[in-house]
Amino acid sequence: MELNRQTAEQALKEASESNPGAWASHSWYVAKACKNIAACCKHLSAEQAYLFGLLHDIGRYAGVSSEKHLIDGYHYCMERGWEKAAQICISHGFMIQDINTSIGEFDVSADDYLFLKEFVANAVYDDYDRLVQLCDALAMPTGFCFLEKRFVDVTIRYGIHPATIDRWKKILEIKAHFEKEIGCSIYTLLPGVMENSCTF
Ligand SMILES: [Fe+2]
Repeated sequence: MELNRQTAEQALKEASESNPGAWASHSWYVAKACKNIAACCKHLSAEQAYLFGLLHDIGRYAGVSSEKHLIDGYHYCMERGWEKAAQICISHGFMIQDINTSIGEFDVSADDYLFLKEFVANAVYDDYDRLVQLCDALAMPTGFCFLEKRFVDVTIRYGIHPATIDRWKKILEIKAHFEKEIGCSIYTLLPGVMENSCTF
């Protein structure tokens, strides 16, 4: 199946009907952030980035889960021949390429755990992987937000993990990487970020 705007948007709509939740709205904002930032990067396609953002959490179609959504998303995309999107379904959870830096629960089989471990260690990341990792941390279900707000939101929900600070540092590094490329703050590309970050 061709991966394009229509198929990706349809996939997200169906998945959100299958497992309704804030994750779907978060995915739309991740996609918009990916598109807006990629549009300012000469070496990236805004359209591709948008599709990868839309699909990064598609594994949640299968129900409420923790790290299982990574592998469910991988299989969902691979079955459709969407190989890069499949990689991003896993890579967005691992800005550090080490399975032990996960903050979620491995609610997967022993075989799937080993698969994830190897996949994460051996994947070759490019700027699409890094862009989705960044934008995942820029989008609440209600809109764009400052990274620090999302960091706190996730930490309250998942708890403090030994890798938490290193994960934050990595995301801040990725932010700096893209800002060097685009020549301005990423927040200037995210409409409503100030209002959304400051609402109670
Ligand atoms: Fe996400």
